[in-house]
Amino acid sequence: MPITTDVVVLPGASARPLAAYVASLASGEADPADILCAPVQPDGPDGPRADAALDELLPVTAAEAIAAYRLTGKPGETAQAMATIAGRPVSLLLLGVGDRSPRALRRAGAELGRRLADGGTATASVVASEDSAGVQAFAEGVLLGGYGFRLRSAPADPAGSRSAADPPGLARLLVSPDADGPEALRRAAAVAGAVGTARDLANTPSALKSPQWLADEAVRLTADRGVQARVWPEDELAAAGFGGILAVGSGSTRPPRLIELSYRPASAPAGPAPHIVLVGKGITFDSGGLSLKPNDGMKSMKTDMSGGAVVIAVLSALAALGVPCRVTGLVAAAENMPSGSAYRPGDVITHYGGRTVEVLNTDAEGRLVLADALAYAVRTLEPDQIIDVATLTGAARVALGTTHAALYATDDELARSLTAAGEASGDRVWRMPLEDGYRAALDSEVADLAHVARDNTSAGSIVAALFLREFAGGRPWAHLDIAGPGRSAENSGELSKGATGFGARLLLRYLSSAASEPAG
Ligand code: BES
Ligand code: MN
Ligand code: ZN
Repeated sequence: MPITTDVVVLPGASARPLAAYVASLASGEADPADILCAPVQPDGPDGPRADAALDELLPVTAAEAIAAYRLTGKPGETAQAMATIAGRPVSLLLLGVGDRSPRALRRAGAELGRRLADGGTATASVVASEDSAGVQAFAEGVLLGGYGFRLRSAPADPAGSRSAADPPGLARLLVSPDADGPEALRRAAAVAGAVGTARDLANTPSALKSPQWLADEAVRLTADRGVQARVWPEDELAAAGFGGILAVGSGSTRPPRLIELSYRPASAPAGPAPHIVLVGKGITFDSGGLSLKPNDGMKSMKTDMSGGAVVIAVLSALAALGVPCRVTGLVAAAENMPSGSAYRPGDVITHYGGRTVEVLNTDAEGRLVLADALAYAVRTLEPDQIIDVATLTGAARVALGTTHAALYATDDELARSLTAAGEASGDRVWRMPLEDGYRAALDSEVADLAHVARDNTSAGSIVAALFLREFAGGRPWAHLDIAGPGRSAENSGELSKGATGFGARLLLRYLSSAASEPAG
């Protein structure tokens, strides 16, 4: 991450944060910054308002500045003005904070983060009167908004995303002594770090990103974090019968892998801890295979391992967040390519555990690799819950756009908890029906079932979920189709253009509270 955050605890910060900061600057106690960031709230007695201490720092009053810039205080709204603090010119960033909900504060923080993405320092009085949750939300926004992924050549660093010599941006947050600021920042850094990891993995071009590369990254990113890693090579996948992963990977010169990451909490919780298995789609490039996609459909398919990236990123952050339950991450990694050795429409493959599936379209590859991983989890890992994450269907994006993932679940309590974790974390989901009426579309004359509907027209996201359910063995299972929110066309709010890391925040929030809920 290019940005770091720090907290400054000032006596009296919660009551008059700017005045306290200016006083401590004058006395040399606090460090000056390039940017001073102050909140604008929509709900003053005479409309939007800001800290009256700004009157002393600006050539006009804060109220006049708000009027001149026509500020409303809505979350993430900004205006920049020159201010003078202790005789030094400073760029003042007026930042709308809306209703100060975690969602509004994350959005506001992201705008500050964007301004620090290329370095520089800021001091922000935005969360001086917030509790730990508010501080964490704002800090998460800063860190996520400051994210950038670049592979531009530069003399200092020909291969990397940013020159190592560039100083990172730094946001110092004035916080009240009542909030546990340092702990809030530590959690924000763990969560935003995981999202950044997922974005980096998914944004990496496929020329660099073979299944083995993804496995190497998974091992590196989870080492010394309470996680044991096992990478299944092709011969072991063949010996154990992972027919779906092998078929999808068969067209590529770069063989498939199953990545298995097992986390155990350092200290055992009081009651029995649930074992939750996360399964991620790890298609390192989806050309469609012999059922080749048109070029436009392929352009974004380096991110078709976003679900797997999220699983790896989540596993890398469990120890830092003290997640109290057992978690196993399975990433089914393969490159879907056309070639003389590729699998074909009409093939029948045998999945882990023995079920046979008739292939009708090699571009519906995600469900085939996931089916193996789900069956493996059910048969060998004794999971209390299974949650899979996948950029599975264009249909999910058509249905819900980019704001919500499609959630399917066989268990109402699990669905409720995931929906709540989504709202709280910023990764929002919308529950869709596992409509039995569509199940007949998957009947096959030659195999146990087909993987897509033969006519292939309606309810594509639901039909894909129904296929996956066949491999969940009746366990409490949830499926997140992130084909919509997994990518963003622009920098907006906490989202960065390209891969968004959608799902990491939701799953970390869910897992942090899962041990206190009934298993299943
Ligand atoms: N990876 C795609 C789904 C996708 C599409 C994700 C667009 C993100 C953006 C998946 O493997 C796929 O190709 N699905 C097909 C399924 C169809 C052949 C039944 C689809 O959605 O068209
Ligand atoms: Mn596909
Ligand atoms: Zn795909």
